[in-house]
Amino acid sequence: MGSTIIKGGTVVNADATTRADVLVRDGRIAALGLGEDWAADEVIDAGGLLVMPGGIDAHTHLEYPVDGFTTRTADDFHDGTVAAAYGGTTTVLDFVKKEPDATLRDTYLRRRATAASKTVVDVGLHAIVPPRDQQPDVLDDLRLLVAEGARSWKFFMAYPGTQMVDDGELLEGFDLARRMGVLPLVHAENGHMVARETKRLVDGGHTAERDHATAHGHDSEAEAVHRAIVLAESIGTPLYVVHVSSAAAAEEIARARSAGAKVWGETCPQYLVVAYEDYEGLGDQAARYVCSPPIRERSNQSGLWHALRTGAMSTVATDHAGFCLHQPEDLPPQKLRSPGFFPKVPNGVPGIEDRLMVLWEAGVVGGHLDPCRFVELTSTAPAKLFGLAGQKGVVAVGADADLVVWDAHADHTITAAGSHLRTDYSIYEGMRVTGKPVHVLSRGRHVVDADGTFRGDPGDGEFLLRGESETFATTY
Ligand code: URP
Ligand code: ZN
Ligand code: ZN
Repeated sequence: MGSTIIKGGTVVNADATTRADVLVRDGRIAALGLGEDWAADEVIDAGGLLVMPGGIDAHTHLEYPVDGFTTRTADDFHDGTVAAAYGGTTTVLDFVKKEPDATLRDTYLRRRATAASKTVVDVGLHAIVPPRDQQPDVLDDLRLLVAEGARSWKFFMAYPGTQMVDDGELLEGFDLARRMGVLPLVHAENGHMVARETKRLVDGGHTAERDHATAHGHDSEAEAVHRAIVLAESIGTPLYVVHVSSAAAAEEIARARSAGAKVWGETCPQYLVVAYEDYEGLGDQAARYVCSPPIRERSNQSGLWHALRTGAMSTVATDHAGFCLHQPEDLPPQKLRSPGFFPKVPNGVPGIEDRLMVLWEAGVVGGHLDPCRFVELTSTAPAKLFGLAGQKGVVAVGADADLVVWDAHADHTITAAGSHLRTDYSIYEGMRVTGKPVHVLSRGRHVVDADGTFRGDPGDGEFLLRGESETFATTY
């Protein structure tokens, strides 16, 4: 492996900003300082630029089956991670959903092999815990999967009949997670409330794409967040709430944290900068924005920003689940498979490439976050939460050389045509941002160059076995 000097930049970590050169050797950061006498195979001029730890997107769905395996997301582990790298993200954590005719363990091992063979940046996997009637001995599989890298397990409180687990299963799963040093994640929406509201809307003829947002009310999200926290506290386990979309749900987390609960919340750029008002008048085309929990009213956004500023919310991930608008021949039915009928629209929006640029623009340029907090939300906190502390999420000697050289003055317009995803639209189409990655290194490999060249092959990224989440430490 070669060596690289990143020269003349300003290093931004979650705790401080320092003027320093970075010496990279054999995939790791070998030295930091003013390295006048260093030599290396390549020198990257970072004069006037920022050097940050590569982004960690803790929530993606690449080549991911949805709706009872009737369709899947468009971007595979190759396309998706190339796009991630272009956007400055050098680690993705994706999910394993048990296949109908296989055990969770077999599905996990198969998906891990697929991910490792295609990814261009490092990848890890969360295991989704299915309802017990789909696999009565699933807890045995989960025990075994910890050593295979499944150090975080996701539980669905939504989608009754397919993925939803009941409170008893949540308690049992949380208890095993606590004993195994595994961080439980929850998709927190009350599935029964959403199902009832969906039925009421459909019965009343309100089936337009925008009605998806009405079906997934704030109250159903806030209730599930509250319940998950109470259940986790009763077991004594830490808890991570994925894709918090409602300010009311964020307040539940804020309240619990100020009372000492070990709960961490994640939100996503789509909830911070896109709003119901952007798609309510689009008819069938509102399918582009359909995801769960839904993209809510603009008035909801200030509560989420408040939670990010005050520390009530801890990470910003994408929940990237991209579907195409136009139907490619090689993919199952995509976004427009049921125009005018929201319950059949595949849920999810693309965003893996845009996350850092959108959050920098709206958060840092917008005055909500300073650069250190930006790094904390997008890299350092996910590293600590998901068993990668010390290895990733920090520009420090000994850490993996996952690095982004960032031009905080670059003027860029986000478009689907300019992205590297397979998906053919962007919910951020036309958004002007100031700030973008110009060089990206993954374990020292210079994967994205300033001229936009990508240098990397499928399988270059590594599968991450990960360690124990820092949430188990009494001090975190
Ligand atoms: O809308 C969302 N969050 N889609 C992700 C895929 C899924 O159904 O879990
Ligand atoms: Zn979810
Ligand atoms: Zn998701």
